[in-house]
Amino acid sequence: MKNIGYAIVGTGYFGAELGRIMNTQEGARIVAVLDPENGETVAKELKCDCETDLDTLCARADVDAVIVATPNYLHKDPVLTAARHKKHVFCEKPIALSYADCDEMVRACQESGVVFMAGHVMNFFRGVRHAKQLIAEGKIGKLLYCHSARNGWEEPQPSISWKKLRSKSGGHLYHHIHEVDCIQFLMGHATEVTMTGGNVAHQGERFGDEDDMLFLLMEFGNNTYAVVEYGSAFHYPEHYVLIQGTKGYIRLDMCNAGMTVKTVDGPEEHFLLHENQAEDDQRTYIYHSTEMDGAIQYGRPGKKPPLWLHGIMKNEMKFFNGIMHGDPVTDEFRPLLTGEAARAAIATADAATRSLREDRKVKVSEIIGSSL
Ligand SMILES: NC(=O)c1ccc[n+]([C@@H]2O[C@H](COP(=O)([O-])OP(=O)(O)OC[C@H]3O[C@@H](n4cnc5c(N)ncnc54)[C@H](O)[C@@H]3O)[C@@H](O)[C@H]2O)c1
Repeated sequence: MKNIGYAIVGTGYFGAELGRIMNTQEGARIVAVLDPENGETVAKELKCDCETDLDTLCARADVDAVIVATPNYLHKDPVLTAARHKKHVFCEKPIALSYADCDEMVRACQESGVVFMAGHVMNFFRGVRHAKQLIAEGKIGKLLYCHSARNGWEEPQPSISWKKLRSKSGGHLYHHIHEVDCIQFLMGHATEVTMTGGNVAHQGERFGDEDDMLFLLMEFGNNTYAVVEYGSAFHYPEHYVLIQGTKGYIRLDMCNAGMTVKTVDGPEEHFLLHENQAEDDQRTYIYHSTEMDGAIQYGRPGKKPPLWLHGIMKNEMKFFNGIMHGDPVTDEFRPLLTGEAARAAIATADAATRSLREDRKVKVSEIIGSSL
């Protein structure tokens, strides 16, 4: 089997772990990394080169694909540089913080003929895959409504991470774009959205400037709807996606990790959310312990992800490496591999942001114009 050479731009919490995992995949080798702060340390660990110039990194003959795991506001430059050098790209979510940037990145990759896979990990949850399969089989009938919440409480911070600054992370809606992407995968692209909320309890120098309470209503133009709640101003923690159909429902619970299915003519059934019971149990434990911060466990350079997250990152890297080795692309995954699904999620987020700012319902077509 041919070896695929990978480079990583940004080797903090996530990039380093993606590298460790990729090095365990068949026919995969991390050949170089670039990160002004943590590159040297991670290069030593991964036994690869440490580059300091993006263009030089992307020009290397032994680099076939570039993994981008810089902070959210710094994805565009490495993606465009990789595309210019005709290198395939895996880019962490959110791929960018505006529809215009996403569009430029998607088009650059299309024009260069390279894969542009977005790191939307929910696609690799066992429970999400199982739910999609059950929905396709008609188990819960026609989908009518999704409700998702990703809510927790944030305490004062000793220092303010880029993840808490709107200009760098995009705030909860963009940083946690997973739920919007997952719902759009299930229900199609939203046509109109309304969002309300604000920063209700986290002002001051020991907090970032993101809104800590957001309520997003998505409409799909065919009498189907979704509501998504996000924030860090909720003492009662919730993290789930509830999918309601004409014949029943599926609930993916990330707090008490597991999946519940109930149909009109059957008993309640319970399934795994992640790969095994140990991963589900560990996730449940973390959500109920003191490690939580703003409904998610924020990572930082040097920290290792928990079991369940490692498990889905492994599924994701295995999938990307398979594509690099010529595995066929199914229709289901095509929009994930062109950046189009990620761009559509940001289009919805941009429409929601405009709705909040202008206090009105916004059509997503106002954001994407005639470009799609
Ligand atoms: N899919 C998920 O569940 C998930 C989870 C965590 C993080 N992420 C995403 O992964 C990305 C990285 O997040 P993280 O948690 O690793 O953050 P982090 O702060 O731990 O790491 C970011 C790294 O990027 C480096 N960096 C900054 N500017 C750079 C530049 N110009 N060039 C190269 N490197 C640069 C920093 O030195 C740091 O090491 C983000 O986009 C984040 O949203 C995804």
